[in-house]
Amino acid sequence: MSEASLGTHKAGTHKEEAVYVYEAPVRLWHWANAAAILVLCVTGYLIGSPPPSIHGEPSAHFLFGWIRFLHFSAGQILVVGFVFRFYWSFVGNDHAREIFRPPVWRKSFWLGVIHEIRWYAMLEREPKKYSGHNPLAILSMHVLFVWGTLFMIVTGLALYGEGQGPGWIHRLFTSWVIPLFGQSQTVHTWHHMAMWVIVIFAIVHIYAAVREDIMSRQSIISSMFSGWRTFRDGGPTDEH
Ligand code: HEM
Ligand code: HEM
Repeated sequence: MSEASLGTHKAGTHKEEAVYVYEAPVRLWHWANAAAILVLCVTGYLIGSPPPSIHGEPSAHFLFGWIRFLHFSAGQILVVGFVFRFYWSFVGNDHAREIFRPPVWRKSFWLGVIHEIRWYAMLEREPKKYSGHNPLAILSMHVLFVWGTLFMIVTGLALYGEGQGPGWIHRLFTSWVIPLFGQSQTVHTWHHMAMWVIVIFAIVHIYAAVREDIMSRQSIISSMFSGWRTFRDGGPTDEH
């Protein structure tokens, strides 16, 4: 066990063990990030498939202005949160590192991934209990979430800098991203398509969190609120 903070208590007839996993900054980031992504997906979808024009003076109702304003504000929250979360992966506890630098060089990590796939396919009878994320969660969070979000940030800032005109965002992002893709419309298309990668990740992620909360005999969702993982019938069975 990487953390020394292990305690036990008797609850009713069964025994529970608890480990402190998610530090407060990670929990705060998780929920702020989830809210920002929800706003980004709804407003981004509306930017790509705009509602019909409405009557009246645009400066009075400012409908599309609000949609874009919300998208850019949530985008800025996402960017600042991501930079902070990356920094925290260096200064936080061991679990804070998991989704940024997965131990892909370890055989036990890949055996854990295979075990989790079999567990989700209902081919395993016993769940493995990890104090942090399970290896399959780490792999999908690293590939789909970390790289997916980085892609959204780079392409989003490139489009933003294009609208804003000369300035540091234009210099840092627009100046090379748009030539790399060929033209602005292609960046729009990729920024749009990658949204669906994030949406699919979020749907599977929420399904897996609810499923594991019920099936894996350890706390999952409440851990992202309290920071503590409690294990029914004995502590973690595996580390990676
Ligand atoms: C998970 C994160 C994000 C999602 C899901 C998302 C989604 C979308 C979608 C679907 C579009 C419409 C593309 C099209 O069909 O033309 C869009 C446009 C745009 N997004 Fe994002 N986005 C995200 C992050 C960001 C970030 C971080 C920024 C930068 C601040 C950003 C800036 C923009 C800009 C400038 C546009 C074009 C607006 C326009 O042409 O009116 N996005 N986004
Ligand atoms: C109702 C919505 C959500 C719920 C209930 C939820 C629940 C959870 C839970 C329980 C964990 C910890 C899993 C574990 O212990 O292995 C977690 C981690 C995580 N979730 Fe969510 N989540 C939600 C929305 C989202 C969204 C929308 C995203 C982004 C698309 C997201 C991205 C992540 C990431 C990246 C982690 C890893 C945290 C870290 O190690 O820093 N979550 N989530």
